Amino acid sequence: MIVLMISLMQYALTYELDVNTFSNYLDVQNRHLHLEWLLNMDKKYINATSTYKFQVIGRSINKITLDIYKLNIYSTYLQNGLSLQHTIDYPYADSDQGQRLNIQLDKTYYKGQYIELSIKYSIDSRSRSISFMTKEQTSTKTMPYLFSQCEDANCRALAPLQDTPSVKQTYTATVIFKDTEAADVFMSADESKEEFQVLYRPQDQAGFTWKYKYFIQKVPIPSYLIAIVAGNIKKVPTSTGGRTFLVSEPDKIQAYTDELREMEKFMQAIEQYIGPYTWGTYTLVIQPPSFPIGGMENPLLTFANPTIMTGTGSGLDVTIHEMAHSWFGNTITCVNWANMWINEGFTVFLERKASLFHYNISDDIKLNAIIGNTSMYQDMLGFGLDSNFSSLHPDTTGLNPDDSFSKIPYEKGYQFLTYLESIVGEVDFQQMLRAYLVQYKYQSIDQQEFQNFLLRYLYEQGVDDYSTKRYKILENWNKWVYSPGLPPVILDFSTVKLTEAYDYTQSYINADGKQPTKWEDYINFLHSQKQVFLEDLFKQAQNNLLKLNVIEQIDKDLKLTEENDFELKFRWFRAILTAGDKTRLKQISDFLGSVGRGKMVYPVYRALNLLDHDFAVQIFKTHEAFYHPIAKNNIKNILGLKEISIQ
Ligand code: BES
Ligand code: ZN
Repeated sequence: MIVLMISLMQYALTYELDVNTFSNYLDVQNRHLHLEWLLNMDKKYINATSTYKFQVIGRSINKITLDIYKLNIYSTYLQNGLSLQHTIDYPYADSDQGQRLNIQLDKTYYKGQYIELSIKYSIDSRSRSISFMTKEQTSTKTMPYLFSQCEDANCRALAPLQDTPSVKQTYTATVIFKDTEAADVFMSADESKEEFQVLYRPQDQAGFTWKYKYFIQKVPIPSYLIAIVAGNIKKVPTSTGGRTFLVSEPDKIQAYTDELREMEKFMQAIEQYIGPYTWGTYTLVIQPPSFPIGGMENPLLTFANPTIMTGTGSGLDVTIHEMAHSWFGNTITCVNWANMWINEGFTVFLERKASLFHYNISDDIKLNAIIGNTSMYQDMLGFGLDSNFSSLHPDTTGLNPDDSFSKIPYEKGYQFLTYLESIVGEVDFQQMLRAYLVQYKYQSIDQQEFQNFLLRYLYEQGVDDYSTKRYKILENWNKWVYSPGLPPVILDFSTVKLTEAYDYTQSYINADGKQPTKWEDYINFLHSQKQVFLEDLFKQAQNNLLKLNVIEQIDKDLKLTEENDFELKFRWFRAILTAGDKTRLKQISDFLGSVGRGKMVYPVYRALNLLDHDFAVQIFKTHEAFYHPIAKNNIKNILGLKEISIQ
């Protein structure tokens, strides 16, 4: 009976578990990580030592288990040099979750005690976190290039770690590299003024010298926010204000800085809604085109895809989004990947608030919500409308949580928060979010805790009609979170601009290969309206209503095949492939070989695969070496080429 009560109490007091880590993080948690990395960029490996300061939080332990993925583990030892036994096993033999590293401790350690230990290991080109690129794959073609992508469960391919968003730690790092292989190196941390003790100093040789950089991240962060970039890169300030910077290869840096001159203003727009940015500086790295995603919010060092630089500013919503993660995701973090909307839904919500402050076009926000909703729905159809992956709480037990990645945490999460805001009222909701950040700063939480906080906050503030609001908040809560498929409440984002975009599609369909009278309307469309039009063309194609003569006319008028804005171009290619157009395959192949951003290449591969599987495979083989391991894997999945391997 007492045992039952204790276990019930524990249940009531703890957050959801993380099913995607093999670590014993409920018994012991790392508080500080130190990395010493020696980069061999040409040879594509990293010699590494990682040092940890673990604290026992359970009753007692004699073993520490960590997540690893294709790392070469050489030795494990305590700070006093005493070597520790370790074994590696594969709890899910046929999955992508990686392996478990079991470290046998020298004795039993008890609650509150610290254990400092080190691991010698290396990372090689099999890593799914680090992309090792040859100089030919870069823009300046002068030096090799390397960057990491850890979210969501890839940092286990960077170091043995408690690879769960529920554990936060500070980190420091020493990075050693050849001056001939990298002009500079940056991490998701500040550069340290203090030099750290170095375990291994390699000898300089004729032709190159070894350089040392030291980093410190003083804020406790989840391990998926550890990041590194190295290559022929340079850092420059963007706008005035002294806190925003840009990193990229030097050849493009001027054009990028010009386009990013409003960066400081973006930050101010976010701050206007949510309060001060507390991380210090903000640096945006424009990565090479094979970067697999749009952006990644590594603290102090956001990574972004070069497709966001269109020359017109149309891709900069990604920057605002990643900046907004400084609050939601990086300050308050989801406790596991089933709660990803605690990061992404809140961030999209803040991003759209800030966009509204900055651009003041409310139609644009609505259209973006509609575009988001459309791709969310497509993702749901892909998973199945009744799959739990189509809910705000996917179950990824035994899987790589990336398998459940979709627009659902973003858009359903955004819609849920917009719905809650409509119940609570805009002002109270904004104040609640500010208080929520104070309350859970540097912690990881689940959605239930957010609900508890929301209700407690409204109660303590003595808001009008508390009990009605409470009732409404709870009425559909579990449906919003747990039910798959479309949300329980459908929000209305319609605007005249939406109808205009649909009418525009119709005018082309009706003109049946001729030029419609209002064809020039497109020029003055909002960027989001152009996307809606192209989405609509895709829908027409799916319904066999987009004829080839119409495609010819549209392309003649709007020059979409030559478009430099890839957000538009990929939608165009998807639509025309779906309509059965085989006359632009050369341009489509060039496109697929010049961009590695999943959002843009996966839909085109999907459409191409339906049209001509063999040709899709052939194009993939041609460009395979260009893609990031994550993208490569996903494309293989789309084309049905994936072989499963555990080593
Ligand atoms: N945190 C995400 C990227 C991510 C999510 C990487 C899950 C791996 C797993 C980032 O903030 C993001 O959402 N990026 C978007 C762009 C954004 C404007 C919606 C992307 O890359 O498409
Ligand atoms: Zn995000």
